[in-house]
Amino acid sequence: MDLGLNGKIALVTGASKGIGLAAAQALAAEGARVALVARSGDALDEAVRGIGSAGGEALAVVGDVSRADEVERVVAEVRRRLGDPQVLVANAGGPRAGTPSGLDEQAWADAVQLTLMSTVRLVQATLPAMRRGRWGRIVTITSLSVREPLLNLTLSNALRAGVTGYIKTLSQEVAAEGITANNVAPGYTATARLAELFADAAAERALVETIPAKRLGTPEEIAAAVAFLASEPAAYVTGQTLLVDGGIVKSLM
Ligand SMILES: NC(=O)c1ccc[n+]([C@@H]2O[C@H](COP(=O)([O-])OP(=O)(O)OC[C@H]3O[C@@H](n4cnc5c(N)ncnc54)[C@H](OP(=O)(O)O)[C@@H]3O)[C@@H](O)[C@H]2O)c1
Repeated sequence: MDLGLNGKIALVTGASKGIGLAAAQALAAEGARVALVARSGDALDEAVRGIGSAGGEALAVVGDVSRADEVERVVAEVRRRLGDPQVLVANAGGPRAGTPSGLDEQAWADAVQLTLMSTVRLVQATLPAMRRGRWGRIVTITSLSVREPLLNLTLSNALRAGVTGYIKTLSQEVAAEGITANNVAPGYTATARLAELFADAAAERALVETIPAKRLGTPEEIAAAVAFLASEPAAYVTGQTLLVDGGIVKSLM
């Protein structure tokens, strides 16, 4: 299937490793010109070199998406060096773990900036040009926690629900303008983030046993869903959350 992404300009945040990097690689492999954003320049440069040596076109922009001024600066730099993003993949590291009673005011404030407001601001900065071009694809990376809240991941549970509500509402507003807005909700995926949450190998084996597919997902499997939702053929899919979870979520919706 031709995804119709050749020559499209894509902005992927949280893109130096894990799911964000795989999404950037997948879009670049489809011919998109991709801007990769993360806080650490070295990892980002390596990611961009990797895409370049695979024949893709990529640009590194160092920035912290949890800060309003940084989002503005990053998007302005992408616009100047590459053009207006037509595809936005809003992603970042997950918020810290913690129980409902174990999180202080600062933890909540930081997570709101990282997980919710980063998405809102990235959309605000890129949507006007998508509207002018009457074409746009907005994809967020959320989590299986939007269907089944996870113990000890209170901030993720609460704020990704907020992102999902925001994207659903946005999808309604822009649907007639050639712009879609969707979420990809990964299940347990083999990345540094997961290694951080399950430091011990026995705990990881026990977790894998609970996944119907009996294995972790790969970043590339999550990225394939991102590339589809960013594609031309996905023009009539909007306001959705696509779970990529090896079957672990058991609910119907
Ligand atoms: N892996 C899983 O099993 C899983 C499951 C469900 C949901 N998720 C969610 O999916 C998202 C991606 O997960 P992952 O496993 O790929 O994470 P990861 O391996 O930790 O990668 C996170 C990426 O985001 C960047 N980043 C972090 N904070 C940032 C910020 N403030 N501004 C810009 N870039 C930032 C990191 O680079 P820098 O540190 O250099 O900025 C890195 O490139 C996370 O939100 C995670 O919670 C993951």
